[in-house]
Amino acid sequence: MSLLAELFSNNQAWAEDLSSRDPQFFKDLAVQQRPEYLWIGCADSRVPAEELVGLAPGEIFVHRNVANVVVHTDFNCLSVMQFAVDVLKVKHIIVCGHYGCGGVQATLRGDRVGLADNWLRHVDDVLQKHQSLLSGWQDETTRLNHLCELNVIEQVANICKTTVVRDAWEHGQDLTVHGWIYGMSDGLLRDLHTSARSMESAKTAYLNAVNSLPE
Ligand code: CO
Repeated sequence: MSLLAELFSNNQAWAEDLSSRDPQFFKDLAVQQRPEYLWIGCADSRVPAEELVGLAPGEIFVHRNVANVVVHTDFNCLSVMQFAVDVLKVKHIIVCGHYGCGGVQATLRGDRVGLADNWLRHVDDVLQKHQSLLSGWQDETTRLNHLCELNVIEQVANICKTTVVRDAWEHGQDLTVHGWIYGMSDGLLRDLHTSARSMESAKTAYLNAVNSLPE
């Protein structure tokens, strides 16, 4: 018996189920993928990208990291974006954060978690930038939720400023960047109304979103 046998048997059942419903499914998938969406989300095990938007393999291109951060020097994330935009021609890039994010919480509390502290410095930049806005909420959970939202809004702005997205827009490519947040306690997504289809709309959407955070 192989190690982690349960996972292999789950996989077999999953593949058989999909094949029985569509015998061509894996044959088509092996030849090409045509996703319309790039998802950039948190690595948190409770936020499974494909599952919570009901998409099948081949329909969504996914990049996940701690606290769904997009940094201009991160060639991992930038490479995913470049491939998704230039080669796969995705029409939408979605940054999806989630309430109760451990990375955002550690930043807000100033907790030390180890190596990841260096990565979370990027979330700390968001915290510093919006310090006065955040200090308006006394309750820690409310402040955490709003920092989770602001972190998404800032990452959307970062994406809009990458060479990948700027070049795509300059070439007239149909590409929209969105900021969403997921509630683990109800399983629902919320749009943070920071969607941008051009450099101009990105600036307006950013300001509107920061000034009208959800209640
Ligand atoms: Co998280």
